[in-house]
Amino acid sequence: MTTLLRQLKPAFCIKSMATSDNGVEITWKDGHQSFYHNLWLLDSCRCPKCFQRDTLSLNSGHDLLKIPLNPTTEKVTIDPEGNLDIVWGGQETGHHSVFDPSWLRVHCYNDPALKQKSKPQLWDASVSISYFDYHEVMNDDDVLLSYLNQLVELGVAIIENAPNDEQSFRALVERVGPLRQRYHPTNVFTMDRQNTVAQAIQHSYQLGRLRNHTDVTAFDIPTGIQYLQCTLYDNPDNDRQAYSTVVDGFKLAEVIKTENPYFFELLTTEYIPAGRRRLSVEEKLSENDFSPRKYEWEAYRRNHLINLDENGEVYQIRYNHNTRIPLEVSYDKIQDLLTAYRRFSQLLQDPDYNAEFLLTPGQVLVVDNWRVLHGRTGIWSPFLKRTLLGAYLEEETFRCRRRILLGEKTGMSNLWLMGCSDRALEILADRYV
Ligand SMILES: [Fe+2]
Repeated sequence: MTTLLRQLKPAFCIKSMATSDNGVEITWKDGHQSFYHNLWLLDSCRCPKCFQRDTLSLNSGHDLLKIPLNPTTEKVTIDPEGNLDIVWGGQETGHHSVFDPSWLRVHCYNDPALKQKSKPQLWDASVSISYFDYHEVMNDDDVLLSYLNQLVELGVAIIENAPNDEQSFRALVERVGPLRQRYHPTNVFTMDRQNTVAQAIQHSYQLGRLRNHTDVTAFDIPTGIQYLQCTLYDNPDNDRQAYSTVVDGFKLAEVIKTENPYFFELLTTEYIPAGRRRLSVEEKLSENDFSPRKYEWEAYRRNHLINLDENGEVYQIRYNHNTRIPLEVSYDKIQDLLTAYRRFSQLLQDPDYNAEFLLTPGQVLVVDNWRVLHGRTGIWSPFLKRTLLGAYLEEETFRCRRRILLGEKTGMSNLWLMGCSDRALEILADRYV
């Protein structure tokens, strides 16, 4: 195994260790000190008695009711491989735990780096979107990881040189994981300007400008990643009709927070409900066939426009002008909330924040639908032809694939990779000199 020959960075190597009444203090070779409580160590033990190696989950032998709340150690050493080796005493006499030092380091409670999420890079209209080659993404895990990392940092990427067929498009999405089930007969949809049935019931097929928005705002969990592949663009006017637009919703949230904290508070605490009632489908299943099957949906959701996580960081934007329904807000806040909402809407169309570009056949626009709002410039020529293929991934599916790829880079076993946070995996993926 080549990984065994690679040298770990000092942060992942134990320099010295000392025990106290209730824990173990480790000094690392980069000078950092960590303290691990005995109870935490015993509760986290991954010996075969406590932890099932096959299912990678706690074993029934790990009995929380029998764990002593003040466990004592009999012998604590650093083994020849550099692991922390503990033989327990007292009630647990003979119980033996071995801890991988890299795993211990990313579980240190007093390392601030572990508590920080990797910060997204906020952007405006001057953003430089990264392009990735379809075939490299399909065949090279390192390129796949770079592209997924780009989605974490910027929320947007473009894949180019994609073959112009639905099967290849589906394969690109499935390179990350299974497609999200839509409330439609198909999980890959075709947006064709010539589809008159669709035009009657769906904004994105209509003429005029498509305002920047996030998709499926009326559902409990919005779709995570959206893929849109251009398969045809033919514009006899040769002007900027049907150009793609994207806006960084996290950037707009920051702009609002800076210029008007009260607006930010309203948009993060008051509800902008969304609704969607659709009792037919617009998709063509074959040349002359519109599905006889009915996919009926009647969705309703109360959510904030700007959603914060447990650390007060923005993690999700939900905005779709077309699916907004009457506000549910107290009488005294109606004017302020709508003014705050209008400010966000204004920023969405502001050329300073709006990146605009032509998506050409063979290019796939990939956006994080929890962050980046997408739209397109107007269409006014009846002769313009444009066809897109579209599909979605769940946010979870995207995160899982990235976590697996990061885990592979660490060279660590499943036993220690299982259950590490995203941040811990990012740090571990970079643990070698
Ligand atoms: Fe959309």
